[in-house]
Amino acid sequence: MKDQADELRKMMRKKNMRKQRVIAVASGKGGVGKTNLSINLAIALSRLNQNVLVLDADLGLANVNIILGSTPEFNLLHVVRGVKTLPQIIMNTPFGIKYIAGASGFSELANMSEQGLTRLITGLEYLNNTDIIIVDTSAGISDSVLYFILAADESLIITTPEPTAMLDAYGMIKTITSEKKNADIKLIVNRVSKKSDVNKVGNRIVSISKEYLDIDVDYIGHVFDDNTVPYSVLRQVPFYAYDNKCGASVCLDNIARKIIDPKNEKEKKPEGLGGFFGNLMNMSKKI
Ligand SMILES: Nc1ncnc2c1ncn2[C@@H]1O[C@H](COP(=O)(O)OP(=O)(O)O)[C@@H](O)[C@H]1O
Ligand SMILES: [Mg+2]
Repeated sequence: MKDQADELRKMMRKKNMRKQRVIAVASGKGGVGKTNLSINLAIALSRLNQNVLVLDADLGLANVNIILGSTPEFNLLHVVRGVKTLPQIIMNTPFGIKYIAGASGFSELANMSEQGLTRLITGLEYLNNTDIIIVDTSAGISDSVLYFILAADESLIITTPEPTAMLDAYGMIKTITSEKKNADIKLIVNRVSKKSDVNKVGNRIVSISKEYLDIDVDYIGHVFDDNTVPYSVLRQVPFYAYDNKCGASVCLDNIARKIIDPKNEKEKKPEGLGGFFGNLMNMSKKI
């Protein structure tokens, strides 16, 4: 049998396709701010001249669209099924970022036919000017969430200073590295309210990951607990768009700069969205 991922790589090479950085945002515990940080980090990156797309892979509650204030009718599965083309499901937002609604049936996405894959790949050309794809996942370590994380080039783990969230973040890091030894893992501590927590929480996770898992987690910054966040969620406007000078937005500016700083670039080249879909399918074969 022909290996689908192989086919895919061939097609991508033929089309000389751009390899975007695919960053999966994940956490152990729910409600720590993944969706809010995904969208607002995307906006902060776009203000630094990055072309950014958010892929909503929260399979439970589709909530990216709630924060963006608009509801898309079609998602990735419509492309796989041939009902829509990829460019038809990409939503432009007033905030300078693009958005694709995830599919609520992971297994259908992972088990797509070659024809379905070809439909996705054909559409990838429309993302050739995209620099970064941020994949917002749901909480926990269910298989589907883990596959999204493992399929991406980088994972961005979100925790809060709460001990339970820290423990779950460490658990997530442990699971990722047990499946992918050389995983590129970045960490953000969200909802920091005490100055003393700015470095303490992140450094603690970095040091226990080094000690017990022998891996280098890259702590890329904190985001302050900020009333602008819930306030803007209620108004269905991303907080960065509402006030780009509020505490949380300024923190995201620093994080965005770190993410695109060439100094921090890993030697490993990103596989892009094509590689992401290919990896997803390869993993589904193991289920
Ligand atoms: N930095 C922050 N300051 C204050 N509230 C926050 C912050 N980050 C997230 N929140 C609040 O936490 C709640 C959960 O955020 P959300 O992004 O939906 O989390 P997740 O996607 O991880 O479930 C939201 O209602 C939001 O208002
Ligand atoms: Mg969410």
